[in-house]
Amino acid sequence: MSPKLAYQMRDLLPPSGAMLDEVLRGLAMRRKQISPKYFYDARGCELFDLICKLPEYYPTRTELGIMGVHAGAMADALGSDCAVIELGCGNSAKTRYLLEALCPSVFVAIDIAREQLEASCTTLAREFPDTRIIALRADFAHPVALPLPMLGAVRRRILCWPGSTIGNFTPAQARLLLRRWRHALGAHGGLLIGVDLKKDQARLNAAYNDAQGVTAAFNLNVLTRLNKELAANFDVAAFQHRAVYSAARSRVEMHLVSTCAQQVTVGGSSFAFRAGEAIHTENSYKYTIEDFAALGRTAGYLHRQCWTDDERLFAVHYLTAGGSTTV
Ligand code: AVI
Repeated sequence: MSPKLAYQMRDLLPPSGAMLDEVLRGLAMRRKQISPKYFYDARGCELFDLICKLPEYYPTRTELGIMGVHAGAMADALGSDCAVIELGCGNSAKTRYLLEALCPSVFVAIDIAREQLEASCTTLAREFPDTRIIALRADFAHPVALPLPMLGAVRRRILCWPGSTIGNFTPAQARLLLRRWRHALGAHGGLLIGVDLKKDQARLNAAYNDAQGVTAAFNLNVLTRLNKELAANFDVAAFQHRAVYSAARSRVEMHLVSTCAQQVTVGGSSFAFRAGEAIHTENSYKYTIEDFAALGRTAGYLHRQCWTDDERLFAVHYLTAGGSTTV
């Protein structure tokens, strides 16, 4: 008999065919692309955890520092009787500070990576016995049906979205996602969101080109994943990691560059690569505080408060759903 879970689990991921369809569509484009959401298989999650500890990758430790110092002020701003919903929860390290300060009645963890979600919810259920823990396995790039009856009659639903994952969407996609969530959160909803700030290009380039090559391994691992899960035959050694900040677009772009002319098969379809041709695997947009407040306003939110670190590397914004709407 399997042991009883200390949390409730719902799997809302579409059937596995969706990944093959999306990858085939991306590789058939004039500029080949693979969505960054496919980085996060079990190995990809391990590599991402290693990235978060790298000396060059400042966002994680900086955001953790901000949460550690300001979680009490954040909880005061949110008020009592909240349900907290976290997107892309990973190990929920940052949100843990908020859970300690806020003691919400319900916590909903949403992630695409099953192992991470299960491990994180098991730990949280042990650490926060007075909070009802709900795990939703879902791709939050698409609409997510929140189990509203399970949230109960709370005063406020708070979407907590740390990690600057919003930066992995274009501003237009980010606006759409935030609008969608504003509806799901309801009239009294709030959004607490971590966003990486614009900064010196050398610092950004170093963060995505670490000396140990962990980010390169993370980027290349998506090809290994496609080989395993989609019967692809990428020669991983024939691709190279490239990451560079584009000041014109305010984003770090990651690519996998083919080192030679080659043919690759994925799920029975064949794709030709020229030497030097790239697959675009990730964007990581950087915002000033004002840029992000403006983005929030166009998604119908009011920008309430913002916490940052002494070096102004990273910002955690608090917005409420009560702004004017342009949906
Ligand atoms: C998850 N995401 C916000 C990370 C980022 O910085 O865009 C993913 C990452 N890619 C390379 N390093 C880290």
